[in-house]
Amino acid sequence: MGCCPECHAWDTFSASTPAATATIHGREITSKVTSMIQLNSVTEQPRERMMSSIAEWDRVMGGGIMRSSLLILTGDPGIGKSTLLLQVSNQLAQRYTVYYFSTEESLHQVKLRATRLGTINDQLLFSDQANLDAIITTAREGKPDVLIIDSIQNCYLPGTQSLPGGVGQLRESAFLLMRLAKEHDITVIITGHITKEGVIAGPKTLEHMVDAVFYLQGEDQWHTRVLRAVKNRFGTINEIGFFEMEQSGLREVPNINEHLINDATHSPGSVLVSVMEGSRPLLLELQALTVESKLSMPQRVISGLDHKQVMLIAAILQKYLHVKLSMHDIFFKVSGGFKVRESATDLGVALALLSSYFQQPIPEHAIALGEISLTGHIKPINQITMFIKEAEKFGLERILVAKNQKVDGSSCKVLRFQHVYELLSLFSES
Ligand code: TYD
Ligand code: MG
Repeated sequence: MGCCPECHAWDTFSASTPAATATIHGREITSKVTSMIQLNSVTEQPRERMMSSIAEWDRVMGGGIMRSSLLILTGDPGIGKSTLLLQVSNQLAQRYTVYYFSTEESLHQVKLRATRLGTINDQLLFSDQANLDAIITTAREGKPDVLIIDSIQNCYLPGTQSLPGGVGQLRESAFLLMRLAKEHDITVIITGHITKEGVIAGPKTLEHMVDAVFYLQGEDQWHTRVLRAVKNRFGTINEIGFFEMEQSGLREVPNINEHLINDATHSPGSVLVSVMEGSRPLLLELQALTVESKLSMPQRVISGLDHKQVMLIAAILQKYLHVKLSMHDIFFKVSGGFKVRESATDLGVALALLSSYFQQPIPEHAIALGEISLTGHIKPINQITMFIKEAEKFGLERILVAKNQKVDGSSCKVLRFQHVYELLSLFSES
């Protein structure tokens, strides 16, 4: 062609030879050959772990963040993701250059948050740019060690048809950031909040594309925040970190059990149980409140436990002990806002209900560990030694278990029960 149809200039065309192509099933493939190598000739490169000196964070990361990985931190809006990330990046900035892109909040808002947290390191650089192309170019040029994008849902990719925050753009963004991380040796941390549509449109869609996924969880009325890994290519998913939201940001809680035990009260309706959280036994207080109901349909307000579990135990107690729980309102909580889904708490649930019903506390410094069958029999549980060891550490003296539960090497007084009938012996006749 002599004249360019686009710019109308003459003689501007030059010839170029395209790479030779072949077709397989009608699809063109490149003829470029990839060289294959033996695994033995690949040199292992020990990759650096980036420590933040926030111990709970570093532990959950698998002993610091793996350099040039792509991480996502998700959680409900308002749970504290931005707060935690600001604290972590502030610590990281003591040793590394960190670029922080706040795509959701203006720099003024970030400044307000930073003021609550205390001094902010000058190595930490901010921008409220939300154009992902610009963010990537800035990172390629500036070569920070760490790039933070808070949040990925608020970024947009210019020139694409899909909507910002939509599945298409989220995936494309994650793909671009993954390449940035690997090719330019930049550690990328993104946040994403769980949207109402959660599973489909939220950060869930990104989970298989990134190196690690962390959830920050907690209940509104409690200050406890739990950081857990749900996927980690460079660590276990068994580690869990505990924090408390305070006026000046998230504070680490290195010994959560001490905290939970100190908060527990020895009063009617309160019973201590233990469950595994990752690799750690947690000591939790179950709190029950039963009151005669004025309603034809008594209320059941249960948080932290499975509604059905509590109803089932209440039904078993009513059947075998003739306590009239079906005519009582039942309120149930678990301390710290934790969610418990373990049948090993059955005995604790039964005791908490009875203790509130009879308005009498169970013996002091005691922990209940057992399952209850539909026939009202108390069943032994697994891994009891770990729970007992932890309980002993915090000065608990009695363990309430199934009759045939094996208990080895404990200095605690062991109270054994075969059937829920026998639980009545803990409460004086009323
Ligand atoms: P934020 O980190 O903005 O949550 P996310 O990024 O997950 O949406 O945290 C918001 C909540 O935390 C807000 O309700 C205020 C509270 N907060 C504190 O209690 N103390 C603090 O020091 C800060 C910065 C926030
Ligand atoms: Mg936020």
